[in-house]
Amino acid sequence: MASRLIQALRRAQPLTTRGYATVSNAHLPPVAGVIDVPQRILMGPGPSNAHPRCLAAMSLPQLGHMHPPFLKIMDDISEYLRYIMQTDSKYTLAVSGSGHAAMEASVANILEPGEKILVGVTGIWGQRVADLSARFGGDVVELNAGLGETLSFESIKNAVETHKPKVLFLCHGESSTGTKQSLEGVGALCKANGCLLIVDTVCTLGGVPIFADEMGIDVIYSGAQKVFGCPPGASPFFMSDAAMEKLQSRKTTVATYNMDMKLIGDYWGWYGGRSYHHTGPISNFYALREALAITAEEGLENSWARHQAMYELLWEGLTDAGLEPFVKKEEDRLPCVNTITVPEGIDAAALCGFAMNKYNLEIAGGLGPSAGKVWRIGIMGYNAKPMNVNLVVTAFKEGLAAQGFKK
Ligand SMILES: Cc1ncc(COP(=O)(O)O)c(C=O)c1O
Repeated sequence: MASRLIQALRRAQPLTTRGYATVSNAHLPPVAGVIDVPQRILMGPGPSNAHPRCLAAMSLPQLGHMHPPFLKIMDDISEYLRYIMQTDSKYTLAVSGSGHAAMEASVANILEPGEKILVGVTGIWGQRVADLSARFGGDVVELNAGLGETLSFESIKNAVETHKPKVLFLCHGESSTGTKQSLEGVGALCKANGCLLIVDTVCTLGGVPIFADEMGIDVIYSGAQKVFGCPPGASPFFMSDAAMEKLQSRKTTVATYNMDMKLIGDYWGWYGGRSYHHTGPISNFYALREALAITAEEGLENSWARHQAMYELLWEGLTDAGLEPFVKKEEDRLPCVNTITVPEGIDAAALCGFAMNKYNLEIAGGLGPSAGKVWRIGIMGYNAKPMNVNLVVTAFKEGLAAQGFKK
C-alpha cells in the first residue's frame, strides 16, 4: 500500500520536467505568519466597526449556497428587510457585493437604453449614478444642489415636469457632504408623472426614518458596513411592484448578467422557485442576517432615536470645541455622517493623524467636492454610543489644542 503511494508520488514529482519551467521563488513572499490587524475605532463615513455578533456569525460553518438552511437564512434577510424598509413588497433581498453593486443593480434593471433619468446631485454619489446611468445607455439629466445643500421639492418638481424622466434618483444620505435629502412628496410627484424613484440609503437605512411604501419609493439600495455595523459584501435592496412591472416589461435584456434582478430574484425565491444564479457570499449573508436581527431586536424607532441622540451629543461637544457644521441648514444635516468645517489655519490631515496615533481613532477628511474643506464623522450602528462619540470630541479638542487653535 505504502509503496504504491510512494510510486505514485514519484510519478507525480517530475511535473516540472514535463515541459514546464521549474518553480521560481522570485515572488515568494517572506513567511509573514498570522495576519496582523490593528484594533481601530472607525468613526469616519464607513466602514464602521462590526458588531461582535456579526463577526461571530461570519465564523460559523459554511453551508452550500442552495442548502435549505442557507436558503432559510436568505429568507430571514428578505423578511427583516421588509421590516427595516417598512414595505409589504415581496421584492427584498441582499445584493452580493458592496453598495456599488446594489447601485449598479438599481440603474441597470430599471433604466433602459435611451430612457431619461433625472439624477439629483448633492455630492459624489449622484455624480456616480449619473456616470453609471450613462454607461447603461441612459439619457442623463443632472439636477445639481449647491455644495453642502439639498434639493428643494420645488426644484425637483420643476425638473420632473420639464424633463419628464422615466427614472428619478436621489441620495438620501450624501456621505461626501453630510447632507440628508428630504423625500417628502417626491414619491407622489413621481407617481403622478409616470416616473420611478430610486433612492440611495447606504448611509441612512436603519439610522434615519425610511418608509418605502408610504414614501412611494420604487427602488432602495443600501450597504452593510455603515448603520448595520456589518462587514461589507451584502447590500440591502428593494423593489416596488411598479419597479418589478417595469423590469418585467423591458424591451431590452438587462446589460449585466451579474446584476440581473430577474435572475437574482429567482435565486432569492421571488417567483416561488429557487434557481442557482451565483454562489451567494455565505458568511456575508450570515453577518447581514445577524445585523438586521440586531436592528429588529432594538426596534427601528429606538435605532433612529439612538442615532439622533448620538448626533446631538457629538455636536454639543464639537460646538464646545469651537467647531462648526459644514451644512448650514439644520434640517439638511445627516445625523449618520457629519461634516465639520476645517477652521482657517488648521491642518486637517494632521488632526486625523493625531487621532489615529494617540487613540487608534479614525477621523476622516472630505471626499470629492468637500475634500480639504471638512472632516467627516460617522455616527453609525455599533459605533453610535457615548463612549465613541466622547472620544471623538476629546480627540478634536486635543488635536486642535496641539495646533494652537483658539475658539
Ligand atoms: C451614500 C453612499 N452611497 C454609496 C456608497 C458606495 O458603497 P460601497 O463603498 O459599499 O460600494 C457609499 C460609500 O461610502 C455611500 O456613502
